[in-house]
Amino acid sequence: MEPRDIVAWDGDAVRYVDQRLLPHEIRYERAQSAEEFEKAIQTLAVRGAPCIGVFGAYAVALLRQRAKNDAQFADDVQRVRSARPTAANLAWAVDRVLQAANALREARAIHDEQIAIDDAIGANGLELIPKGAQVLTHCNTGPLATAGGGTAVGVIVAAQRAGKKPRVFVDETRPLLQGSRLNYLELSDAGVDAVLMADSAAAIAIERQGIDLVIVGADRIAANGDTANKIGTYGLAILAAHHGIPLYVAAPRSTFDLQIRNGAAIPIEERAADEVSGFAHTRVAPPDARVYNPAFDVTPHHLIAAFVTEHGILRPPYGESIGMLEFAPRLPFAHRVPQ
Ligand code: MRU
Repeated sequence: MEPRDIVAWDGDAVRYVDQRLLPHEIRYERAQSAEEFEKAIQTLAVRGAPCIGVFGAYAVALLRQRAKNDAQFADDVQRVRSARPTAANLAWAVDRVLQAANALREARAIHDEQIAIDDAIGANGLELIPKGAQVLTHCNTGPLATAGGGTAVGVIVAAQRAGKKPRVFVDETRPLLQGSRLNYLELSDAGVDAVLMADSAAAIAIERQGIDLVIVGADRIAANGDTANKIGTYGLAILAAHHGIPLYVAAPRSTFDLQIRNGAAIPIEERAADEVSGFAHTRVAPPDARVYNPAFDVTPHHLIAAFVTEHGILRPPYGESIGMLEFAPRLPFAHRVPQ
């Protein structure tokens, strides 16, 4: 599936592939109203931090065209902007389109830039993947998650294309299985040697399969480098530190929230109990089971060896290296956004 097919402007609607049905069915849906946009994001039909940013950008462009008055437009925008609280990219993209003179042109630019940014992240991360590396990754961070080439998956695929032949252990990513359904699909489609495993197999995989490094994406990164990502990432970071292997985070500038000083201020989305109490739409736990279902956790910056961004690799001390992003141009590479 091409990045431009994952979400796309479709004249009088925004088209998207329903990621909940993958890999078994490729079904395209169209959204037109604030309610439909919000539902697509909240049900994870459209998901992954940069991808919901691109989707939110097109959503605002369409809502602008369809708005009957300013008050209704403001309500609609707020509904989309707050559909998921943790990923920084959604509010960032919505605000950028709101401030633009031409909403649709800005939404298209955000999508074009995401594709170019992901290419740069892949190229920049290449040096972190040794030839024949054994890599562990979590959640889904490829084209489906960004509507571009991907972040962590983008780096792995770049390494594969460079002939480094990484072997990748793919966490299934309970409860919603973004790893087994989506990440495995994207990695194997790219010809990467991928091995699926339960999240709870990570410790023994690191110990006995000779994992060299962990690489993941991010949903929001605070100014000090504390990083919110899919639930389970923090545990992986502790495992990686214990075994003396690096954990890298690949993410675009739009995932960094420089207004937030540290991870304690990152809002963590809690999702419905039935995502944990059941499996593949079948109830598993006792009917009265109480559930804790945070969708993300926050990895402290000292457990992160480096960030891979479109502006290069950022290393500690992050106060300085992440701080430099404040002054980074939007596009640090030769790229002309088509009008
Ligand atoms: O709940 P999801 O599936 O939207 O969570 C996605 C993740 O946590 C990804 O790791 C993150 O968005 C990075 S995507 C390039």
